[in-house]
Amino acid sequence: MSGQYEIGMIGLGVMGRNLVLNIADHGFSVAGYDKDQSQLQAMREEAAGRPVLAAQSPAELVSALRQPRAVMMLVPAGPPVDAVIGDLLPLLKPGDLIIDCGNSFFKDTDRREQMLAGSGIHFMGAGVSGGESGARHGPSIMPGGSKKAYGQVQSVLEAAAARVGGDPCVTYLGPRSAGHYVKMVHNGIEYAVMQLIAESYDLMKQGLGLSAAQMQAAFGNWNQGEAASFLLEITVDILARVDDDTGNPLVNMIRDEAKQLGTGMWTSQDAMNLGVPAPAMDAAVAMRNLSAFKSERLAAAGALGGAGHGLEGGRDQFLSRLRDAFYAAVIIAYAQGMAHLKRASDSYGYGLDLEAVARIWRGGCIIRASLLETIRAAYRQRPDLPNILLDREIGGEARKRLDALSDVASAAARLHIPSPAFMACLAYFDGYRSARLPANLIQAQRDYFGAHKYERVDAEGVFHTQWT
Ligand code: 6PG
Repeated sequence: MSGQYEIGMIGLGVMGRNLVLNIADHGFSVAGYDKDQSQLQAMREEAAGRPVLAAQSPAELVSALRQPRAVMMLVPAGPPVDAVIGDLLPLLKPGDLIIDCGNSFFKDTDRREQMLAGSGIHFMGAGVSGGESGARHGPSIMPGGSKKAYGQVQSVLEAAAARVGGDPCVTYLGPRSAGHYVKMVHNGIEYAVMQLIAESYDLMKQGLGLSAAQMQAAFGNWNQGEAASFLLEITVDILARVDDDTGNPLVNMIRDEAKQLGTGMWTSQDAMNLGVPAPAMDAAVAMRNLSAFKSERLAAAGALGGAGHGLEGGRDQFLSRLRDAFYAAVIIAYAQGMAHLKRASDSYGYGLDLEAVARIWRGGCIIRASLLETIRAAYRQRPDLPNILLDREIGGEARKRLDALSDVASAAARLHIPSPAFMACLAYFDGYRSARLPANLIQAQRDYFGAHKYERVDAEGVFHTQWT
């Protein structure tokens, strides 16, 4: 039996429901299912008047769909995704498509696609970014998998996605786990930029003694310029928010222990696997981990003396240096993420078009920022650009703010205000533009203790020295 609904959605948490409403608002009929009756009921109420079916079982959902069927799922990454696939498998036919819209680990996506390949059922891993409001009003969607299967759902995804200058923030990215990989690195960049904003906040608060209102004004000012971005915008809103109970800025009432679902850590881990440096992401993950050691930090603050002293000198001058340092560091963090994607594309055979990645990140997603327009232009001019820092305009923007970045990094070091993301970005930039690094000494040491051999600057071949 075949129904007439255009697309299905399994998993009707807030993200799933909002995506259903978004898709239905664009005139597509959607069948939704969740094993939790209260979620199903919530969708029924929210979707009243729209072409939306609340299915009572996966079987009812599948039989309501037009063939070939397309079923999206938005459930937590890990075993729940396998469980939904297990439910759907006996109900679907060759040519049908399952789309995992969650933050699945890319190797799981590869495994699932392979597992389904024999059955003729297509599988697509599609990263969806933008949180609740993105899902409702237009997310950035990063699909990978079978290109033919993408054609089945292209019109739905393009209608639901955010738009910038008429372009939908979705495009087919590449085979297998390409979409989930791009989403993972998106989140790595998200972690790095969040950490840079947090370090800026700490420098303003501890270093300059600014109030929440003053910090709000400073970040608001940055957000008017070249660094304009969604993450700065929400930071301004956050700093304005007063706690109803205490009258304090709400941010001051929040425990300083950051949680994480894992995508930032995966980005760092896979950058290591690929041998591609991603120190801003590493620093961001490390600082979230360190923040979780609250009781040890409290003990260490007592035993070792708390960090953070006031900054001497002009406040306005430092704020202006910080603004420049922030933008330089953000450019460098995006550079790490894009270079990571380039390496992953070559190593895993994704064939990524980085101009397209920058294009679909300009709207809807958490890392949307004015900078992405410039990054997109750089790849349009040179699609095989190894690193955006080699683009004249982008490299120049970072270069001209480099003194500010080193001023901020040294002020942070002097004040003992931990700012590893700023420092990592500075060191990456300086390392990347070093014609000569001290790796010659490391090679000598490796050869000394392990006879690992080295290459010479003046001759071909490999050499070993009896060092003692
Ligand atoms: C997005 C977000 C989204 C989610 C993060 C949170 O792009 O919409 O990245 O996917 O909010 O996964 O990640 P952490 O819990 O790891 O901070």
